[in-house]
Order: sequence, then C-alpha cells, then structure tokens
Amino acid sequence: MDLFANIQPNKLEIVKDAYLLKSYALANEQSLLMDLAELVSQAPLRFMMTKMGFAMSAAMTNCGALGWVSDRQGYRYDMKDPANNKPWPLMPVSFQQLAVLAAAEAGFDNFQPDACLINQYQVGASMGLHQDKNELDFNQPIVSVSLGIPAVFKFGGLARTDKTLRIPLVHGDVIVWGGESRLNFHAIAPLKMNTHPILGAYRYNLTFRKAG
Ligand code: SIN
Ligand code: FE2
Repeated sequence: MDLFANIQPNKLEIVKDAYLLKSYALANEQSLLMDLAELVSQAPLRFMMTKMGFAMSAAMTNCGALGWVSDRQGYRYDMKDPANNKPWPLMPVSFQQLAVLAAAEAGFDNFQPDACLINQYQVGASMGLHQDKNELDFNQPIVSVSLGIPAVFKFGGLARTDKTLRIPLVHGDVIVWGGESRLNFHAIAPLKMNTHPILGAYRYNLTFRKAG
C-alpha cells in the first residue's frame, strides 16, 4: 500500500467543498500576467460606485461574456462595459484554462465560466463580508486567483454572523468553493504594506464565475 497516496500538500480543504490550491496559478504565470496587462489596457480598472454612492475600495474591470458592475442602480452582470458601451474583452485562453482546471482539481467538473471579475487592491484596500449570489446557477463553483502582494481571505459560513477562518493568500494561490459552501460569506482583510517584484504594491484577484 502506498502510504503517501492521499497526501497532497498543495491542496487544502478549508471547509466542505472549499479548497485552497497553493501556488496553482504559477505554472502558467507568464501568460496570465501578459494577458492581464493586455486586458487592463483594453478595459481599464476603475472604482465603481455602490448603490449608496461610495467608491468601492478595490478598482475593478472584467473580461468574458458578462461583467460584474456596480453603480447607483445597484449591482448586476452586464454584457457591456459601461465606460465605453462595448462588450467586455474576451476571456483569455490562459484565464479560461486555469479556471476550468482549478475547478476540476477541487472536484467541480464541467465548470463553464462566462465572467471574470478583476479586482485591483492597493495597500489598505479591503472587501467587506458578502456572499456571491448574483449568479443564476449556484451549482457552478467560484474560482478565485490571487496575484501580487499577500492578503488574508476570511471565509465564513452561510450566516453573516458565523465565525470566519483566516486564510493567508500569496501570489499564485487559488481558492475554489462551490457545492455546500457556494453561498458562504467571505471577505478580504485590509492589505498590509508589501511589494511584489512584478506587480508592485498591488494585489490582483481574478474571480471566475458562471453568471448567466
Ligand atoms: C471577492 O470576494 O469578490 C474578492 C475576493 C478576493 O479578492 O480574493
Ligand atoms: Fe466574493
């Protein structure tokens, strides 16, 4: 019997149906970063407004058939970039492949992402506790890729008041959640000062979802 057959040090179960895939995005780092640079030149990062009229803490853009947008009307998915009324840039093959492979690695076969939200965090930026529930099909998972400076991801339960686990994330880490954890609350703690050799004092997060 192979005593080590089940040991996968780079795949950690956070809670049921939620996994941290350490360094998973590094295999294709170069293509990812080149595609990211190209994307933000086509659809620039911008601070969207909340319904209440406050600028969001992270700058955002999107690629794929659908993009997540927020303004005074609230938040929703839209086929067009409100900044220029054109479709969002296509999802690069490097992004698509990473998302599908990471989902499968976490046990979610047949992930069909049609939306990729790109968040850019400066030092001090954060993301409040929320659920991802603007999508139509909660059977499809969420794949979240971290690039740049480190962050602490807080992963809670189905109730806002549930205790949250604090998960340190570094460049290349991927989190996948779905199934029983698909609607769990989550957040990003304010980013500490740091610099990444390529991306500078920023964290980028790519969130892949099947929205439509
Ligand atoms: C989010 O939950 O929308 C963003 C998560 C992250 O930046 O890692
Ligand atoms: Fe989220």
